Amino acid sequence: MNWINSCAVLLLLASLIFVPSCYYDNEEELYPFVECDTTAVTYTETVLPVLENNCYVCHSAAANLGGITLEGYQNLLTYVNSGRFLGAIRRQEGFSPMPQNASQLPDCTLDQIEAWINLGAPEN
Ligand code: HEC
Repeated sequence: MNWINSCAVLLLLASLIFVPSCYYDNEEELYPFVECDTTAVTYTETVLPVLENNCYVCHSAAANLGGITLEGYQNLLTYVNSGRFLGAIRRQEGFSPMPQNASQLPDCTLDQIEAWINLGAPEN
C-alpha cells in the first residue's frame, strides 16, 4: 500500500469516528454562550416534560418508588414546598441526588425549574 492509499484509509477511519459523534452534540455544548431563557417558564411547558422524561419512570402514581409520586400538580407541589424537589435535582447535601442513576439535569433546565418555583410554582 503506498502512502496515498494509507492517507485515504486514515481519512475514512477518522470520518467514521467523528461523524457519528455529531448525533450526540447538544445545543448547550455546541453553543455554550446561548442564553438560558428563564422568563417564560410554566408548569405545563417547562416542568411537566422534564418530569415525564426523567422522573415518571420511577415517580408516576403507578411506580411510586420510594413512596414518592410526582405525577399530578398537587403531588409535585408537596415536594416543591418541602424543598425536597429542588434539593434532589440540584443534588444538594442532605438530599438523594435525582434523577437516580442518571446524570444531573442540564444547568439550564435546573435554572428554569428554579425560576418557576420562585414565581410561586403556579399551576399554569
Ligand atoms: C430510577 C428511579 C428513579 C428516577 C429516574 C428518579 N427517582 Fe427520585 N427517587 C427514587 C427512589 C428509589 C427514591 C427514594 C430513595 C432515595 O431517597 O434515594 C427517590 C427519592 C426522591 C426524592 C426524595 C429525595 C429526598 O432526599 O428527600 C425526590 C424529591 C425525588 N426522588 C425526585 C425525583 C425527580 C425530580 C426525578 C427526575 C428528575 C427523579 N426523582 C428521578 C428513584 C428515582
